[in-house]
Amino acid sequence: MSDAVALSLDEAGAHALDLVGVGRRFGALTALADITLSVRAGERRAILGSNGAGKTTLFNTITGDFPPSSGRIRFFGEDVTHFPAHERIRRGLRRTYQISLLFDGLSVIDSIFLACRGVSRRRFSLLRPRRDDATRAQAEQLLHAVRLDDARDVAVGQLSHGQKRQVEIALALAGAPRFILFDEPAAGLAPTERRDLVAILTALPAHIGYIIIEHDLDVALRVAERVTMMHNGRIFKEGTPDEIEADAEVQAIYLGGAHG
Ligand SMILES: Nc1ncnc2c1ncn2[C@@H]1O[C@H](COP(=O)(O)OP(=O)(O)O)[C@@H](O)[C@H]1O
Ligand SMILES: [Mg+2]
Repeated sequence: MSDAVALSLDEAGAHALDLVGVGRRFGALTALADITLSVRAGERRAILGSNGAGKTTLFNTITGDFPPSSGRIRFFGEDVTHFPAHERIRRGLRRTYQISLLFDGLSVIDSIFLACRGVSRRRFSLLRPRRDDATRAQAEQLLHAVRLDDARDVAVGQLSHGQKRQVEIALALAGAPRFILFDEPAAGLAPTERRDLVAILTALPAHIGYIIIEHDLDVALRVAERVTMMHNGRIFKEGTPDEIEADAEVQAIYLGGAHG
């Protein structure tokens, strides 16, 4: 049996994420309260909500950057609530940040190559020459997947904002991700860059699930199979894009211009 088949059988019907009663406080502030959320393996989910709703904090509890104050988190069935961030990364969890963490002086291909090498180093330390070839090939493949072939040798500092976000997506794809958290990748993008982003996300391999935090309702409805709406640290609505689009309360929020 190929690894890919074994993986898909193993994960058939499995949940990538199960959050039960997750809360997070910062001193007296309750940033997240009683979040219960399940996302299937391979599922694409969007999270919408105004600034301060707790979306990034939710990501931080899932990644381990800021573990929850209460509740449990399972990743592919395993309780990771108190795992350090790197243990979750090792299990295939990735994220992108709202603020860019790229090295401006590195070229696009070198940035991607280093991310691929960083992930593979521990596992293949005895196969140095072959590993480097495989890593280079993976870097070239990711360069193409995020549509940056034309910017291959450009320094990251010279890229447009949208191209930087594309590099970040490539970095999140390094190694063997099973699930990715995208924190507002479309923020500040020009319309053409936004279209590229939608194309890149919708073309990701089917076994890679993700949650995308997104302000733009149109983008969220196009890149997700289900949409979760948050407000004041809580989930207040969840549904398919059709259900969300037809929802009177959602229409009042988004057409009334009260979000943002
Ligand atoms: N590290 C932190 N320390 C203190 N307060 C925080 C921290 N991170 C987030 N918060 C607060 O938690 C609430 C939710 O923030 P956040 O999760 O960033 O919202 P969103 O991403 O939906 O805009 C906000 O009131 C924010 O000020
Ligand atoms: Mg945020």
